[in-house]
Amino acid sequence: MSTLSTPIATAYVLRCVHCGAIEAAAGALFRCSACAELLEVVYPEWAGASREFGLRLKEIWRERRSFNLPENSSGVWRFRELLPRTERENMISMNEGNTPLIELRAKGRARVLAKHQGMNPTGSFKDTGVSVAISMARAEGFRFVCCASTGNTSASVAAYAARAGMQSIVLLPAGQVASGKLTQALEYGAHVLELNTNFDGCVRVLDQVVRKFPAYLMNSMNPYRIEGQKTVAFELMEQLDWAVPDHVIVPGGNLGNSSALGKGFSELRQLGLIQRLPKVSIIQAAGANPLVRAMREHDGERLAPVEPETRATAIRIGNPASWRKAVAVLKNTGGACEDVNEEEIAQAKAELGAEGVGCEPASAATLAGLKKLMHSGFVKPEQTVVLVLTGHMLKDQQYTSASSRRSSPPMDADASAVVRVLEKMYAAN
Ligand code: F0G
Repeated sequence: MSTLSTPIATAYVLRCVHCGAIEAAAGALFRCSACAELLEVVYPEWAGASREFGLRLKEIWRERRSFNLPENSSGVWRFRELLPRTERENMISMNEGNTPLIELRAKGRARVLAKHQGMNPTGSFKDTGVSVAISMARAEGFRFVCCASTGNTSASVAAYAARAGMQSIVLLPAGQVASGKLTQALEYGAHVLELNTNFDGCVRVLDQVVRKFPAYLMNSMNPYRIEGQKTVAFELMEQLDWAVPDHVIVPGGNLGNSSALGKGFSELRQLGLIQRLPKVSIIQAAGANPLVRAMREHDGERLAPVEPETRATAIRIGNPASWRKAVAVLKNTGGACEDVNEEEIAQAKAELGAEGVGCEPASAATLAGLKKLMHSGFVKPEQTVVLVLTGHMLKDQQYTSASSRRSSPPMDADASAVVRVLEKMYAAN
């Protein structure tokens, strides 16, 4: 019983992903004071962890699912042995995670599953990371949190800040955020500031703002966001009874999520919970593909920002913050990095919809990418593939209504007329 209810207590340090320096304090921007690169959370005490520790974790995590305390029912905090130390009174949770793994119709001969992160409390994968980061903000006594966003982060930060009794400030690219996301941020009481720039411009402004105003940075440069988001790897492995899939495919924007997934799998292997890594592949929109170019043209050594353009507004990002972490994940797991065009994204989204699985356009990029990777032979017949669907379909209804085929024009309320239409439909099917 003690492990079910213990405070959340894993000691950790922050380490630079580039030069390896250990930082005593995070600083407002969560960057290395020596080389300005991003930081990551590492847990020195795992170095000597035994095989028994790993096996015991599987048991403890399974056991917790039958208990109702938030720290046991949350699909994030249930895995707290692998999360940074947090006291219970600072933990802000809305039972995030716990998302379904849905078997899709086979694509070619590959077995394909969708891990639907759009089923989180605010409809995107961001909630898993935001739950951890906001708990840290609370522990540090912040009253304000802030983020730049293509929409989903703002919705999630606004909701969790409201739960925590904190104020949220969200910087959005004016006119480039799907209305479902914008209305969420407003509903949850965020201070919404729309800027005449794109997402990358909002991040530049945010960097300045957090130096001048005491607000806690909630974007995925914040390493605690990554800690929350890595738990999707743990939950996925539980759902697969610890049988490692051959491939996991994720969309790439600012590249926090792909970094988090890769970190999650690596930690499971480090602790002996799995014996090998899945190949983690990252798919970008062709009009916002700086990582694809960095891999193709510079083997991931250098990234040149691009001017982003795509109707998948969630991933309309030209200068991704976490590119170094994402390159490490690609190299470490042997994953591929591909881009897909607008038509391929729309087609893939419609195909998922036709299976009863709705998602945002950015999420559908994973299926479009899978098709390319099957075509190139990177994904082989008989392999198991998990697509990470990152956002809920209702986030971006304009996109869906603009690309869906309308069933019929409005008609008179006349049963015989309706039956005539139905008879034609019946004959055609
Ligand atoms: N899919 C969706 C639905 C997203 O909202 C995002 C990012 C991504 C994929 C890409 O994830 O940035 O970690 O590589 N949305 C951010 C936001 C940028 O502000 O909501 P990433």
